[in-house]
Amino acid sequence: MFREALDLTGRVAVVTGAASGIGRSSAEVLAELGATVVCADIHEAGAQETAKTIVAAGGAATAAAVDTSRAAQVDALIDDTVAAHGRLDVLANIAGVMHLSTVIETEEADLDRVLAINFKGVFFGCRAAARVMSAQGFGSIVNMASGAVDTATSGLLCYGAAKAAVVQLTKTLATEVGPRGVRVNAVAPGWIVTGMTGRHWTDADGNEDEERKAAVAAPMARMAPLRTVGEPTDISYAVAYLASDAAKFVTGQILRPNGGVAMPW
Ligand SMILES: NC(=O)c1ccc[n+]([C@@H]2O[C@H](COP(=O)([O-])OP(=O)(O)OC[C@H]3O[C@@H](n4cnc5c(N)ncnc54)[C@H](O)[C@@H]3O)[C@@H](O)[C@H]2O)c1
Repeated sequence: MFREALDLTGRVAVVTGAASGIGRSSAEVLAELGATVVCADIHEAGAQETAKTIVAAGGAATAAAVDTSRAAQVDALIDDTVAAHGRLDVLANIAGVMHLSTVIETEEADLDRVLAINFKGVFFGCRAAARVMSAQGFGSIVNMASGAVDTATSGLLCYGAAKAAVVQLTKTLATEVGPRGVRVNAVAPGWIVTGMTGRHWTDADGNEDEERKAAVAAPMARMAPLRTVGEPTDISYAVAYLASDAAKFVTGQILRPNGGVAMPW
């Protein structure tokens, strides 16, 4: 029964940020569960690579270039998907960027850029998908928040504020489209080893410094009751659950795969 509830055969999913990390893993897992996946990213070659990997594994996927901070491009992504596949069942809004600066040092341009990608990009996706899903009377939207919403961390104002806005968007939209059969949830990951965090130990040629990796990840792991950092599938499995009928009674919720770092009510 549970297996059937997780089955996404015949469903159409769009995943943003699909070129790397959590987005790539989510695209792969949704495809493994049977969905036809549109892998969208500003890094088009990376999105194509993800789609190629999915197809090579026997799944169905295409790639699309999108800058999620541009409303017209996000609208076109959703319109093109519906034109090609006739419907949209899942939108995973995963594209995002990291930015570190204290409040005092933050330039207006930094704030604008991070809000544009990490919040407005999610808003544009939600709005476009909610229009289509409301009309078809079915759909699931999964937004990527962050553990940054559960605490205040020096240097993370732009990022944390954008993610807190994603939480508010998730809950508000859930109340608005729930009566039309559309669910909206968010995932707030703890510290996950991806391209975003990997820049601390990876040089320009992509070579990894294992000692540096251990030095950066170890303090993060120590903060978690489970004493480990996460990997992309720790998050993509949560995305897939929320996308599927296994979560058909779940909306407006923030799921926190974080090793136990934060346990809000
Ligand atoms: N890695 C972590 O520890 C962690 C923790 C909490 C939340 N998150 C969130 O998870 C999401 C994925 O992060 P990740 O760790 O996989 O990072 P990543 O850097 O590996 O992947 C981010 C992807 O987003 C794409 N992207 C960036 N700007 C874009 C834009 N304007 N339009 C379209 N695509 C764009 C990038 O090209 C990249 O492929 C982000 O929203 C991030 O904030 C990550």
